Amino acid sequence: MCGIVGYIGEQNAYPIIINGLKKLEYRGYDSAGVAINNLKNINVYKKKGKVSDLEAFTKGKDISGTIGMGHTRWATHGVPNDVNAHPHTSMNGKFVIIHNGIIENFAVLKKKLVARNYTFKSETDTEVLADLIEYIYLFGKVNAETAVRLALNKVIGAYGLVVMCTDEPDKLICARNSSPLVIGYGDNEYFIASDATPFVQYTKKAVYLDNQNLAVITRDSVTVKTIKNDVINPDIQQIDFDSDEAEKGGYRDYMLKEIYEQPKSILETIRGRVYENENAIKLGGLLDVMPKLLNARRIIIIGCGTSWHAGLVGEYLIEEYARIPVEVEYASEFRYRNPILTQDDVVIAISQSGETADTLAAIQLAKAAKACVIGICNVVGSSISRETDAGVYTHAGPEIGVASTKAFSTQVTVLAMIALLLGKCKYMIGQQQYHQLLTELLSIPEKIEHTLQSAAKVEEVAKLYKDSRNFLYLGRGCYYPVALEGALKLKEISYIHAEGYPAAEMKHGPIALIDDKMPVVVIATQDKGYEKIVNNIQEIKARKGKIIAIVSEGDTVISKMADHVLEVPKFDTAIGAITTIVPLQLLSYYIAIMRGCNVDQPRNLAKSVTVE
Ligand code: M6R
Repeated sequence: MCGIVGYIGEQNAYPIIINGLKKLEYRGYDSAGVAINNLKNINVYKKKGKVSDLEAFTKGKDISGTIGMGHTRWATHGVPNDVNAHPHTSMNGKFVIIHNGIIENFAVLKKKLVARNYTFKSETDTEVLADLIEYIYLFGKVNAETAVRLALNKVIGAYGLVVMCTDEPDKLICARNSSPLVIGYGDNEYFIASDATPFVQYTKKAVYLDNQNLAVITRDSVTVKTIKNDVINPDIQQIDFDSDEAEKGGYRDYMLKEIYEQPKSILETIRGRVYENENAIKLGGLLDVMPKLLNARRIIIIGCGTSWHAGLVGEYLIEEYARIPVEVEYASEFRYRNPILTQDDVVIAISQSGETADTLAAIQLAKAAKACVIGICNVVGSSISRETDAGVYTHAGPEIGVASTKAFSTQVTVLAMIALLLGKCKYMIGQQQYHQLLTELLSIPEKIEHTLQSAAKVEEVAKLYKDSRNFLYLGRGCYYPVALEGALKLKEISYIHAEGYPAAEMKHGPIALIDDKMPVVVIATQDKGYEKIVNNIQEIKARKGKIIAIVSEGDTVISKMADHVLEVPKFDTAIGAITTIVPLQLLSYYIAIMRGCNVDQPRNLAKSVTVE
């Protein structure tokens, strides 16, 4: 959480920083701030609210300077207000700092600084760090870089930070531990950011800082070191997306754009990996770990939120097609419950951002137990993608809307490919069935495209239920996690209470909630569990619940029972299950818009949760 941007070069820093912050607002939007250095002064402006509030606040103020940094905050320590907003300035004004992460031992450090007569303006852990750096600088009589380095050696916790020093105005010092930081290499200019989107329009050359690394950046050089002072030769990488991929491209919101991008994103996910003619799936990123996967005692899938839901679909697909036992765990629970792990287990960690703190910690635990860890990430070069033994990128393109949409469908696509690959290698799937499954997989983009054409119908249904206070989402088998995901989408962007449930479990409790005001979304496509779900629909009907059914095209049975039907194209296997999420995404989107909610930046949330 929190987005960081820094710039040093020949251009005016302010517009680069502000535009960069707007691209990082998905990481937090409780407050925003900038520090712009014109080599005489470092002007700091900060404001509660969004980057646009900050922009309004800086109108008419001195924003000149070619060195600068900015921050958009998701509050951890201290309420969202102007004082707790970043940047934070040290007590004697020598250092200005922006920070993403949590300094876990801040209370101990603060106590020591208070004993040395330091006073604090904010409630943040970051101000403590600014003062610690300053204290070391002033009393240790060292340069700014050394002060930052020594301070970071005393810190326990996560940080992605940028520091300015008034005595050394022509440089930026940045460092990272568990919170992402990328340095963009331009011509006589450098950029720093939490991800590459703020600077990809200026340069595609970037260095992803490693944990406990620090960089000193001047207009013409970057020096990377560990916080123990060992110099590092950084690996300059090429960024593989364009700046317009991170724009709204004519859509009202990022979320809508990302829903509509799904056919294209899934095509990218399967591109170069599924070969229909050869009847083969090739996942280069898994080649080295295939023996481990094929001999796995069990597979444990970990993730949070939407990624966890994708994992549940993965469990269904891997067990169905590869017959390997799978368990799916919330990373946040897994990491703290002393799980039994051996080197015969394979852990698959799923994360769009690749930065989720709980998932990262769970990976470290699995690695310590010598389990093989595979990542399914979207963000290239992210912490999780680098921490894992092997992996498969989803290649969904930047997902900016806080509510995950294309991340989910592409994660499920990767899991489907893994399930089929393993199934074939373990001789669990015959050639003909395999071919049918590959054909189905390849048809998903087109089927989603087709489903999107019914958006107007979904909008009509949304109009009828936008004022409902509760929703129930039901599904069986691999549609149960789709129901969970549909419910999550609705609650996070429209603030309506929604629950996802396995359809057959309804009669063990939730059925008590059903009355003539309760909309119940049922995923009821024509496959394995069809007859059972028809019975469940009857049970809801008998209690006068309002049924919104997701059905296969041409279904005449459910259309007679349900209040509304939303059709998806027919498919023959569980591989097609991904398609059913599309009407649910659209339903939550339209309801949220009709309720006047900001779908891209829902309250209290942030896109990547880099704190526990
Ligand atoms: O980046 P990750 O996939 O690790 O993020 C996990 C969750 O925080 C994320 O899926 C969250 O639940 C989304 N906001 C859901 O839309």
